Amino acid sequence: MSEQTLQAIVKAMVADGKGLLAADESNGNIKKKFDKLGIEDSAENHRRYREMLFTTPGMEKYISGVILFDETIHQSTSDGVSFAQYLDSKGVVPGIKVDIGLMDFEGHPGEQVTKWDETLNDRLKKYYELGARFAKWRAVINIGAGIPSDECIAANCKNLVKYAQLCQANGIVPIVEPEVLSDGDHTIERCYEVTKKTLIELFAQLKKANVDLSGLILKPNMVIYSLEGEKVSAQEVAEKTLQCFSEVVPTEVGGIVFLSGGQSEPESCVTLNAISKLVKEQKTPWKLTFSYGRALQNSALKNWIGKDENKFSSQEIFLHRAKLASAASFGEYTPEME
Ligand code: 13P
Repeated sequence: MSEQTLQAIVKAMVADGKGLLAADESNGNIKKKFDKLGIEDSAENHRRYREMLFTTPGMEKYISGVILFDETIHQSTSDGVSFAQYLDSKGVVPGIKVDIGLMDFEGHPGEQVTKWDETLNDRLKKYYELGARFAKWRAVINIGAGIPSDECIAANCKNLVKYAQLCQANGIVPIVEPEVLSDGDHTIERCYEVTKKTLIELFAQLKKANVDLSGLILKPNMVIYSLEGEKVSAQEVAEKTLQCFSEVVPTEVGGIVFLSGGQSEPESCVTLNAISKLVKEQKTPWKLTFSYGRALQNSALKNWIGKDENKFSSQEIFLHRAKLASAASFGEYTPEME
């Protein structure tokens, strides 16, 4: 794996028509998914599942990078090639989720902060040696009665910034992910307000810490309706999302990659497509694309259910989702393509 500037890595990650596959489910998270489908939860089955996804012929046409979990970056294909090396050989940038999860935010019921990890610098050095060229740190902001508090937003941004500094010092592109959750029944206006407030705080702290914004990728939620709230059109999602970003995201930011955040597979294409069309009209300064977990994997996993005989059909399903997300990143997706 070669040494590259942060900007060169960013450029490859947000190349035209490509996006990221978030395959960094923690062991707890993937166990829940496997349990639901009756798949035995074991390190070997995690490996087999990830191998099915990563060895999908042609996925590199649509997928620029893959976010791995700690267990996964230490695993290999059945032929004994480490996943990071394998992806790199296909021209897909290997990345790694480095946060170690959430904890309750003391004194603030209903709010959480991503745990800090004193060993992060050492871990980043090891991940670099293993081939990771970008990392991901996820912070979660909950919307509810009286929350989020300013203190919770500030504490989460503080850790995101310390993480981003350490990544860049180690030659790794930080994906900073302040996810405003869509759980609940709040309106899209409330999502807009909270997302904007969070991003203002994040970029104020990043600037103060002299983080190089051209060597960083933002992974935000779309400004969107909540899971139990009233739905609005994809056009409105696109308008509010880009309005928010144009007000608060500095132009130097290397790229913006969206999480799917509980949207269905087709829905995540409809909304991204509306955003991409508007991006073309408005000529935004940053490149925007997808970094989906569930919206690229759900159907493929359901079809796979741990069986070798389902490998090729599952790869076809995954490739189809990647192709549609890619079309949406050009603003060229139509529901007929489903
Ligand atoms: P979803 O696309 O499933 O929301 O996950 C993306 C991700 O990486 C969340 O941290």
